[in-house]
Amino acid sequence: MARVAVYRKEHFNAAHRLNNPDWADDKNASVFGKCNYANYHGHNYDLIVRVTGEVDPATGFVIDLKVLSDIIRDEVLERFDHKNLNLDTKEFKDINPTAENIVIAIYHILRSKLDQSLDLHLRLYETDRNFVEYPV
Ligand code: NI
Repeated sequence: MARVAVYRKEHFNAAHRLNNPDWADDKNASVFGKCNYANYHGHNYDLIVRVTGEVDPATGFVIDLKVLSDIIRDEVLERFDHKNLNLDTKEFKDINPTAENIVIAIYHILRSKLDQSLDLHLRLYETDRNFVEYPV
C-alpha cells in the first residue's frame, strides 16, 4: 500500500511570557530577552500538521482533510487562539510556553484524536525564522 503524507496549515495568535520563577529578574531577562517582558506579548504562530498513512482504497484519502481541519480547529485553535498561554490555558500553568513546549502540547492533543494507524508530525513557527518540529 502506498503511504502518503498530507498536510494542513493553520494559524493562531497568542500571548505569552517566558520566565523561570526560581531565577532572579536579571537572569530571566538575560536568558529570555524580550520574551521575558512582564506584561506579555504576542506571537503569530503557524502550525503545519503532517499526517502520514496508507491511502484508503475506498476514499483515496489518507485522512479527510475536512475532518483533520475540524479536529485542529476544535482541539487546538479553540484552546489557544487569542489566549494568554500563561494565564488562560491549563497546559502552561506550570511550564514555560516556549515553541518547544507548545508543539509538544499540541502533539499530545492531536495524537489522542487520530487513528493509531496514522503517523503525526508537527512544525510550529513562532516567527518566520524560528520554528520547531516534533517528534524528531
Ligand atoms: Ni515571545
